[in-house]
Amino acid sequence: MDIWKYYAVTHADHLVCNPTSEAKLEELVNLLPLQSGARVLDIACGKAELLIRIADHHDASGVGVDISSYETEVARQRVAERRLDDRVEIVLMGGADYDAAPGSFDLAMCIGATWVWDGYVGTIEALKKIAKPGGLIAIGEPFKMHEPSAEYENAEPGLVANLVTHAENVAIAVNAGLTPLYAIVSSQDDWDRYEGLQWRAAEAFAVENPDDPDLPELLARMRENRTVYLRHARDTLNWAIYLFRAPG
Ligand SMILES: C[S@@+](CC[C@H](N)C(=O)[O-])C[C@H]1O[C@@H](n2cnc3c(N)ncnc32)[C@H](O)[C@@H]1O
Repeated sequence: MDIWKYYAVTHADHLVCNPTSEAKLEELVNLLPLQSGARVLDIACGKAELLIRIADHHDASGVGVDISSYETEVARQRVAERRLDDRVEIVLMGGADYDAAPGSFDLAMCIGATWVWDGYVGTIEALKKIAKPGGLIAIGEPFKMHEPSAEYENAEPGLVANLVTHAENVAIAVNAGLTPLYAIVSSQDDWDRYEGLQWRAAEAFAVENPDDPDLPELLARMRENRTVYLRHARDTLNWAIYLFRAPG
C-alpha cells in the first residue's frame, strides 16, 4: 500500500507526529532565541504543528515542506485556521529537493526524517548550509539507551544499524561545528502515547472502512510494528529534539 496512506491513517490522531509531548514542544518553542520576523524552514513538517507554534509565538514566517499530500493538506488547513497563511507556506515536495538559498533561514529544522539527507550527519550538513551563520538548527532524532538485542536488529535492521547514543548524537553535532543549546528528551509515557495512538487510529480505521482494499496490509503492518515496539524498541530506543547554533 501507499506508505503515505499508512502514515496518514496511523497518525490520524497525532498533531505532533513524533514522540515529543505537546508540553515539551511548547517548552522548546518558548526557549527558541528568535527575533520577531525570523524565517523558519521545517523540512518534513508533517502537520506543521511546530512551525505554526513558532510562527505564532515569535511572530515569525516560514516554509514547511513535506513529501506526503496527506500531511500537507492537513498542514495547510491548520495554517489557515490559525490565520497564518500570509506568513507560513506549505510546500508539497521531497525535502532534499527544496531549493533553499544558502544562509537564508534563522532556524532550519528537520524533526523525525533525517533519511531525507541519508541520515543524521547528512542532515546536519544540509541544515548548516541553509541556516544563517550563527542561526539555529533543530533536529529530531532517535538514540539508543543501550546496545540493541540481536532480535531487535533482525526486526529493524535499517534503523538499528544507525543508532548511536544520546551523547554521541550531541558529540557528532559538535564535531560538525554546531553548538548544542538544548535537548528535549522523550519519556516512556511520550513514546507509549505516540505508539498507542497509532494502534487506536488503525483499529478505528478498520471498523470504519471494512472494505478498504489496503486494510489487511495496514493492520498487519501496524500490528507487526506494535510487536517490535513492545518487545524491543520500548526498552532500547529513545528520542530527542536537539537545538543547536550553527557556526558563525
Ligand atoms: C515522523 S514524521 C515527523 C513530522 C513532523 N516533523 C512532526 O514532528 O510532527 C515524518 C514526516 O516526514 C515526511 N517525509 C518523509 N520523507 C520525506 C521526504 N523525503 N521529504 C519530505 N518529507 C518527508 C512524512 O510525510 C512525515 O510527515
